[in-house]
Amino acid sequence: MTRILAPLACLVATGNATTPVLERANGLSAQSVTTNCKQACSQLSSTFGSAFHWPQNDNFTIWDAKQQEVHPACRVEPSSANDVAEILDILVSHWCYFSVKGGGHSRNPGDSNSVGGVTVDLNRLSGIEILQGNKQARVGGGATSIQVYQALETRNLSFVGGRVGSVGMGGFTLGGGTSPFSNKYGWSLDNVYEYEVVLSNGTITTASESHNPDLYFALRGGGNNFGIVTAFTVRTFPQGPVFTSMTTYSANQSNQVLDKVYDLYTNINLTSDKEMGYDLYYSYSSESDQFTLSGTQRYGKPVRNPPVFAAINQIPTLSISTNIGPMSQAVDGTDSMGTTRHLFATLSVAPSRSLLSEGLKIFQEEVEAIKKVPGLDPNFISYPLQRNAIKAMKQRGGNALGIDRDEPLFLILISTAWSNSTNDADVNRMTANTIDRLNSTANNLGVANRYKYINYASAAQANTVFSGYGENLQRLQKIQKAVDPRGIFTSKGLWRGFAKLL
Ligand SMILES: Cc1cc2nc3c(=O)[nH]c(=O)nc-3n(C[C@H](O)[C@H](O)[C@H](O)COP(=O)(O)OP(=O)(O)OC[C@H]3O[C@@H](n4cnc5c(N)ncnc54)[C@H](O)[C@@H]3O)c2cc1C
Ligand SMILES: *[C@@H]1O[C@H](CO)[C@@H](O)[C@H](O)[C@H]1NC(C)=O
Ligand SMILES: *[C@@H]1O[C@H](CO)[C@@H](O)[C@H](O)[C@H]1NC(C)=O
Ligand SMILES: *[C@@H]1O[C@H](CO)[C@@H](O)[C@H](O)[C@H]1NC(C)=O
Ligand SMILES: *[C@@H]1O[C@H](CO)[C@@H](O)[C@H](O)[C@H]1NC(C)=O
Ligand SMILES: *[C@@H]1O[C@H](CO)[C@@H](O)[C@H](O)[C@H]1NC(C)=O
Ligand SMILES: *[C@@H]1O[C@H](CO)[C@@H](O)[C@H](O)[C@H]1NC(C)=O
Ligand SMILES: *[C@@H]1O[C@H](CO)[C@@H](O)[C@H](O)[C@H]1NC(C)=O
Repeated sequence: MTRILAPLACLVATGNATTPVLERANGLSAQSVTTNCKQACSQLSSTFGSAFHWPQNDNFTIWDAKQQEVHPACRVEPSSANDVAEILDILVSHWCYFSVKGGGHSRNPGDSNSVGGVTVDLNRLSGIEILQGNKQARVGGGATSIQVYQALETRNLSFVGGRVGSVGMGGFTLGGGTSPFSNKYGWSLDNVYEYEVVLSNGTITTASESHNPDLYFALRGGGNNFGIVTAFTVRTFPQGPVFTSMTTYSANQSNQVLDKVYDLYTNINLTSDKEMGYDLYYSYSSESDQFTLSGTQRYGKPVRNPPVFAAINQIPTLSISTNIGPMSQAVDGTDSMGTTRHLFATLSVAPSRSLLSEGLKIFQEEVEAIKKVPGLDPNFISYPLQRNAIKAMKQRGGNALGIDRDEPLFLILISTAWSNSTNDADVNRMTANTIDRLNSTANNLGVANRYKYINYASAAQANTVFSGYGENLQRLQKIQKAVDPRGIFTSKGLWRGFAKLL
């Protein structure tokens, strides 16, 4: 099984912003767009030297094979906010399409590698500077999680980062950012004090609670609709080694395991231990032709078998693999680059023990129907948005996600890897069926929820992600128009990948 979440073993809002979106694009044929981008690339080539790459001599790799297969006109690697502003000016003046790459962990062509346009690769923007007497760090918009963990660990510090080292700070934090530390500090987006951002007109500005508060609100969950973030100033905290334990169970233990997992997600006596995290997996292995239930226990202190897991540890396991070490070690793993196809899709539900059992059953039935797909590696993954994390979402004016509740929310991710493009339709169908059936089961049980985590959404879900933010949708659209009146960063402009507000 692929350990998506645990690689261990393995300005603004005023003004009457009704300016029409640039209409030039509509009149352009694909041919002239190509010509535009060729001209933009030539200009970038003469300005950016060795930070510029024509595709024929670029050995660029990106995580997902579908993104690896697309052909950009060229790729450029800015090293500063000024570079980003200059690149944007060139792209807009030539009216050339582009995609922006942070850590490159998206799964749809065009999300972070441009289909025929320019790929703006932020990987050189990876500087990390510790500030404010070890309480904050300024992190480049193209840094990866492991780079941040490693830099902070030199001072025994950490931050609210992800479970896999190669994931980018950019996409992760702009969409949400769930972390082993979330029960203590909330999601990554609620631990950003300031953003440095390049707007569509090339202006470099900052957004914080006190400066451009509307833009600050919008960047906390609004994804890639507002600007290119060149630096995040984030909370850091003292942190030593963490405990991580991966456990697998035989099928006849499923009910006991799910009972205890449900407790770990909901029972206040357990969730009040803020050091604790737990990720649930149900996975199919083509090699063994078996479904396996497993879980990753996480604890923010170097304690072997912390008491919070005492009850679940009564259940016999098939295997246990435990580690105590720094986060940079817990998130390290081998990522194959550009060779495997991946699909994520998601939904969230109010806590329900029945939904967990029903969910595994539905997933298993749908996977059985496509078992023959070469390289198939499907996973049903769930973990909670904890009460503490929901409370943290109210800090500094609140975030854009539109989540306000007293009880936890369960996030569900259907994450599948496979190897051959011939089977794209099979995996799409399996995933869509699973999500639809989970959704109707959730409706029947009265636990459906509108929120879909943008970073786990499929291409098919991208259009409805923001309606899941409730009334914040209108506010976000208004802020978008105010900061980008020409609509450069909308689905009618030049930066169209990922999930768009307009
Ligand atoms: C193996 C794996 C493990 C994961 N683990 C977790 C996890 O533990 N917790 C979690 O919450 N999520 C997790 N995710 C989901 C992850 O948060 C999303 O895939 C996220 O969008 C990846 O960000 P990225 O920068 O790597 O990807 P990219 O594809 O580079 O970026 C995603 C989108 O954000 C935009 N973007 C990126 N950087 C910037 C920037 N600086 N300014 C403006 N726009 C930008 C891009 O244009 C793109 O549209 C995981 C994903 C994978 C594949
Ligand atoms: C490709 O990558 C290798 C290793 O990083 C490097 O040595 C080589 O110069 C690169 N080739 C090109 C054409 O960029
Ligand atoms: C980090 O913690 C370790 C273990 O407690 C200690 O030996 C080391 O000196 C600390 N490093 C710093 C920079 O404080
Ligand atoms: C559960 O399954 C395992 C093998 O997968 C077996 O060893 C064990 O005896 C079974 N337990 C019960 C109670 O059936
Ligand atoms: C939490 O623990 C207390 C004290 O043991 C107990 O009375 C209470 O019922 C427990 N609450 C839950 C939700 O289990
Ligand atoms: C669930 O169904 C409702 C309507 O029945 C729809 O609005 C919502 O987008 C669906 N959610 C998911 C995750 O498919
Ligand atoms: C993908 O599947 C097709 C059709 O089954 C087959 O012809 C092709 O060889 C496969 N490609 C790879 C790389 O396995
Ligand atoms: C760029 O856009 C921002 C937001 O709309 C605006 O405040 C700023 O004045 C603009 N700058 C220029 C140079 O037009």
